[in-house]
Formats: sequence, C-alpha cells, structure tokens
Amino acid sequence: MKTVLAIFLLILAGVMAGKSQPDGRGGMAIRMADDVHSYANPQQAKVTHVDLDWTVLFDQKIIKGSATLSFQRPPDQVNAPLILDTRELTIEKVETSVNGTVFKPTTFQMGAVDKFLGAPLTIQLPPNAKKVRVFYSTSPNASGLQWLSPEQTAGKKQPFMFSQAQAIHARSFIPLQDSPQIRITYSARVRTPKGLLAVMSAAGNSQTSARNGDYRFSMTHPIPPYLIAIAVGDLKFQSLGKRTGVYTEPSMLAKSAYELADTEKMVEATEKIYGPYRWGRYDLLVLPPSFPFGGMENPMLTFATPTILAGDRSLVSLVAHELAHSWSGNLVTNATWRDFWLNEGFTTYIERRIIEAVYGTNRREMEAMLGKQGLLEELAGTPESDQILHINLDGRDPDDGATGIPYEKGALFLRYLEEKFGRAKFDVFLKNYFNSHAFQSITTETFVDYLDQNLLQKYPNIVSLDEVNEWTEKPGLPKTAPSPKSDAFEKVAAQAKNFMDGKALSIQRMQKDWSTQEWLHFLKSMPENLGAAKMAELDKMFNFTNSGNSEIAFQWLMMSIKNNYKAADARLENFLISIGRRKFVRPLYTELAKTPEGMKRAQEIYAKARPGYHPITQSSIDAVLKK
Ligand code: BES
Ligand code: ZN
Repeated sequence: MKTVLAIFLLILAGVMAGKSQPDGRGGMAIRMADDVHSYANPQQAKVTHVDLDWTVLFDQKIIKGSATLSFQRPPDQVNAPLILDTRELTIEKVETSVNGTVFKPTTFQMGAVDKFLGAPLTIQLPPNAKKVRVFYSTSPNASGLQWLSPEQTAGKKQPFMFSQAQAIHARSFIPLQDSPQIRITYSARVRTPKGLLAVMSAAGNSQTSARNGDYRFSMTHPIPPYLIAIAVGDLKFQSLGKRTGVYTEPSMLAKSAYELADTEKMVEATEKIYGPYRWGRYDLLVLPPSFPFGGMENPMLTFATPTILAGDRSLVSLVAHELAHSWSGNLVTNATWRDFWLNEGFTTYIERRIIEAVYGTNRREMEAMLGKQGLLEELAGTPESDQILHINLDGRDPDDGATGIPYEKGALFLRYLEEKFGRAKFDVFLKNYFNSHAFQSITTETFVDYLDQNLLQKYPNIVSLDEVNEWTEKPGLPKTAPSPKSDAFEKVAAQAKNFMDGKALSIQRMQKDWSTQEWLHFLKSMPENLGAAKMAELDKMFNFTNSGNSEIAFQWLMMSIKNNYKAADARLENFLISIGRRKFVRPLYTELAKTPEGMKRAQEIYAKARPGYHPITQSSIDAVLKK
C-alpha cells in the first residue's frame, strides 16, 4: 500500500512539474512545448495522421486536392475546434467525419495573415468527430514549392517540381499543424502527367521506369511535418547498395551514382555507433541546381544539391550529414525551432564521426577545422543574443536561426563532452539517448535533464551543469572548446606562406596530393587584400577560375570580388545564373553589394538569375539587394 501511494505521489509530482500529463488515452504524453511558430492547438486537438490526395498541375503551378487529417482530443476537449497552419492556400470546402468514412460539410474560418506564420484555419467540429477533410489548392507562389520549366532542368524536355518544407513551409502546400513537436504518419496518392515520376519521403518510391502518373506512398513512422516532401520530374533510379540508391534526371544519373557510391558504407558505419537505421531504405534525390540548400534530410529520401558532384567524392560529407539526421533530427526531433541545435549540432558531430569511420581521422580533422574557422568568423559578426544555442526566435522567421552557429558550436559542444567523458562512454550515452527518445520531439531542457541524469551525475566531477549551461545558454565559445588539429593543414599553411613570400611552389605535387579540403584551406589562408596581381598568379598556376568544384569555385569567386579580379567576372556571372544554392549565392551578392559598381553588377546579374531561383533564395537575395 505504501509503495502504491509513493508511486502515485511520484506521478503527481511529475504532472505538477509540467513534464508530462495524461494524454486522454490512459497513457502519459510529453507536455507540449510552446511553439511561437505555429497557430495549432495540439493541447486541445492533435493531428496524428495525414492522408493526401493530390493532382500536380504543372500548367497552373499548383497542387490541387485534399488532405484528410485524423486527430485526437482529450475527454475534456470534446468541443474544441481544430486549428491548422496554412500559407497562401485556397480552401474550397472542409468536411468532417465521426466514423472516418462518411464526411459532412462543416464551417471554418481563416484568421489574419502574419508575414512569417501565414494564417490559422479554425475548423468547427461535432463532439465525436475523428477526421476532417480539407479540399484546397496551393498558390503558384507557395513558399515551399519550386516549379521549374523544362529549360531549367538538365534534360530540357520535362518540367520539374520539388518541395522544401523545413522550417515552416509545409503549411504552404498542406493545411496541417506545422510544428516539429507534432508527430504524424502520412499516406498519399499523387497524380502527375504521364511519363513523369513522383517520389516522396516515404515508402512507395518506384525503382522501375513504369510511369503511369498515379503513385501511392506511405510513411508509417510518426514524423514532424517539416519532413513531408515530394518531387516530380523526369527521374530515373540507380541502386547503390542493398538499401541505398539514387534518383535524378537521366543525364545526371551516372555522375551521381559515382559520387554517392560510399553511401551504403556510411549507413553501416553509423549503425555501428548509434544502433540500427530504422527507416528501411535510404535513397537520395539529386535535384536541379536551383535547390536552395545543400541537402535536406527528408526521411527515406535525402534531397541533395547537384553542386556536391565534384567528380572525386570530396564533398560527400553532405551525405554523411543528411544521413546522420536519420538519428538526430528525424528519430529525435527539435520540439521547436529554438531547439534547432539539437538537430543540427548533433548531426554535424555525427557527420564528422561518419567521415572519420569511412575516410579516416585526417579528413575528419580537416573538416572540423574548416568548421571551427567558419564558426569563429561568424560569431565575430553576430549579435550576442544570436550566438546562443538555445536561441530566442520570438517574432522572427525561424529561418533566421539557421546560421552556422547551431551546427558548429553544437558540434563542438558534443565533441567537448566526448573528450571529457571519453569516446566509449559518450557513444553509449548518445546511443541510449536516441533509443530512449526515438520518435519523440524534445526541447533543450529535456536534453539537458537527460544529460545531467545519464552522464554528468553518473560520472561525477567531470563536467558540471554550469559548464553545460554555458554552452547552451551563453554567447560565444567557452574557453574549454575543443581545438581540432590537422598536420595536413599545417603543410598547406606553409605553402600559402611560401606563395606570399614570393617563393616557388611545388605545383605538381600539390595538384597530385591535395584534397578539396586542403585547397580550401590554402585559399582561406590568403590575406583578405591579396590583390589582383597575386590572384592572377594563383590562377595561372591552378586555374581556380575554371574549377569544377563548387566549394573551391565559390571560395575563389568571393576572393575575386574582394580583390577586384576581373578575369573571373564571366565565371561569376555564370555561377550565379546557373546555381541557386543559397549558401553560395547569398554571400556572393552580399560581397558585390558592398561597392556602388558591384551593386550595379549584382542587380544586372540578379535580373537574369532571379527567375531561376527558388522562392527561399529569391527572398534572401531580394533582402540583400533592396535599395
Ligand atoms: N536540415 C538542413 C537544411 C535546412 C535547415 C533547411 C533549416 C531549412 C531550414 C540540412 O540538414 C542541412 O543542414 N543542410 C546543409 C548541409 C550540411 C552539410 C551542413 C546545407 O544545406 O547547407
Ligand atoms: Zn542538417
């Protein structure tokens, strides 16, 4: 009897502490965090499944169809409405169902539009309603979709469409509760023009060439809405391993398959450290060059930029990164966008562990050094409040939080813990963390509690909670931050110094031995004001202006703008017109915009480039070049 009472009191204490509460089904649910980037009311009515029925209309640049949402309400909320997030959706009608099969019309209201959040859609429900069905179409300007004309594809014959939902763009193509703390399964039927293939972040992607224009998908694991993804185009598949493969346009397939050949090895390496890959297949989709990001970890189907196709597999840390999200991000998810570092910092740490396992410690350290250098530069130009991992994003676009800081500072924090506790203990800790929070969305506070219980207190007097708080809640980098070391980079820096001192370089040896990372470090070791003459010398030796490696070309073009090196002008224009990856194009326009002549050039180039950019890239560059 005493123990029963004790257990009761413990549960009560837990509920009062606000960590968990009854979920209305006789179980306990994690308390919902406040998400300032969603209008949804999951405490009252929580969506659990989304069934999509879509027709993809290329001529109108819209998706038209319906979304049928299953939801649950606790017993004391039987009269609560369902509130969904939307953005520029045209709602035709809304129906609701009690038994899940017969639907009847119901009333709904659209609230006021917020420029970041879109508008809430409030749906009235009878007390025992279980589902709603929203008939709608997207806007041709949907922020989460890009529609490409045939000329904008590699094949030039067929149109292409793809989605990008993170952070809060799913609501621009699905009316749903668009918060990462909501977890839903989904199913979809997608109709496309015959001859095109639709693929989604789900099971059901076709590996054959049969394209009847009618496809079905299902994601049976509960995922946050920002991981729903679709692409439609002239796509072909090639297998890479027993559960890995690549989709892309036919003319890109051989090059993609070559570049991504180590994918299966990467999955195996990650499983060895963090436990089984839980999603079934791991495929990649290599998109047209307007894809605004490097990669996106859509479950079962990573989306990737073609700018990683360097021809020598040197930029595949991007694959390691997106794959790592299958644990950090997709399995255990940030509950709100202020906890974004839980996704990206963990993932950047794991990315480097994968690189180490597959390519060795040297490569890992080079990439870690490039990461830390970038972080230090970025910290120097960022206001203190935005240097904090657990960042406050109230009233802001969550994309503002997607700087390098959650990635690299977060990764250094985990590396710090690894160094302090030793790899063996830290690996066990992280593996247990993933297993115990699998398919859950958690806040920074929940992670820090778990860390305290399972590492700090278990092995006392190694790291204190104050030290942890310094990492998560304070600006800058703690003095104890790890310092990656690379012998290879020391040799590179010596060559850079030789060059600056006017000494001869061993050009052939460098060309034969150096990796992309070494070339990047070489260029970054040059002084800011190198001068056009020295630039010309370098170009003569190494032909950087014509580098086919996007990272090296980008670095070189940045230097060309800063040093007024005219011989790279044509390449710069071509680069900006043919590539829409924001990480490259935004800094280039920003650098150009610093002088009046540069600004004029930037605007001329942008006039040609803008129609080919993704809405996300367009709005970023609009902001850079606004007069
Ligand atoms: N999930 C991110 C991309 C993202 C973040 C999209 C925030 C929208 C909002 C993805 O995993 C990522 O981090 N991509 C990086 C590449 C990576 C190797 C650092 C990118 O796109 O540059
Ligand atoms: Zn990431």
